[in-house]
Amino acid sequence: MIQQYLNQIINGNCVDVMQLFPDNSIDLTITSPPYDNLRTYEGYNFPFEEIASQLFRVTKQGGAVVWVVSDATIDGSETCTSFKQALKFVDVGFNLHDTMIFKKTNPVPQIYRKRYNNEFEYMFVFSKGPINTHNALRVPCLHAGLELKGTTYKNYSKGEQTRTKLANPVKNEKIKGNVWEYVVGKKAVDQESKSHPAPFPYDLAKDHILSWSNENEIVLDPMCGSGTTCVAAMENNRNYIGIEISPAYCDLANNRIEKHKEEMGMFYHQTEYMVMPA
Ligand SMILES: C[S@@+](CC[C@H](N)C(=O)[O-])C[C@H]1O[C@@H](n2cnc3c(N)ncnc32)[C@H](O)[C@@H]1O
Repeated sequence: MIQQYLNQIINGNCVDVMQLFPDNSIDLTITSPPYDNLRTYEGYNFPFEEIASQLFRVTKQGGAVVWVVSDATIDGSETCTSFKQALKFVDVGFNLHDTMIFKKTNPVPQIYRKRYNNEFEYMFVFSKGPINTHNALRVPCLHAGLELKGTTYKNYSKGEQTRTKLANPVKNEKIKGNVWEYVVGKKAVDQESKSHPAPFPYDLAKDHILSWSNENEIVLDPMCGSGTTCVAAMENNRNYIGIEISPAYCDLANNRIEKHKEEMGMFYHQTEYMVMPA
């Protein structure tokens, strides 16, 4: 039964913990793995291929996995780990639904010579079969109200490109593109996780949760770090499950969740994290 793990931070190796979950039990996973040993966490073991297989098994038909990842540059070459991992997800059975970009408003300045400053990470969106849910985020149209002579439309599903007058006048809003930009580590909600070396922005987790899941569904982060995905899931009326190998980060995640519960007027306290059941 997946119910016993809902709304908990579980301390353990995510492969061992996910093995306890039933098949087809998770609606959406949002996670970010350790990147090419770029950072020292509290000590971890990262069995990528087993993680990918377990994620496929536990994801519901039509459910999704958002994998936020980047490459190290070693001996002058990017490692291609991001692409290799994406191909492995497809090998284990997922569709590559969308290759999205997380653009950083404030990228860390780099000292590499003869290359541009890296200012993005990949956000691969995988789905188990055709994706069930897309609550599309919308943005204002730059030319709202303008009368156009003709506009080119692409239908990516069918590989078609047509020129029509469908958008006359230009609408007020359109579906957001797949390059999402966030400021890193500056907002108050992101400052809460500053003792973790690599949290992603709260708004990144929130935007994926709103896009690819519905209220009361189950959102998993198998490497939850400071608990960003879990906080965003809770605040948007989803159930969360966070798994983290480091007890110190489990404490950090639990403390964040407690703080947000209090702000939301929830008086049910869970100060201890769960240790992987035997
Ligand atoms: C990039 S960080 C995730 C940060 C998180 N998205 C956040 O916003 O705080 C990766 C995390 O994976 C954890 N980790 C590494 N291997 C793991 C494993 N096998 N099982 C569970 N957690 C693991 C690390 O301790 C680290 O906290």
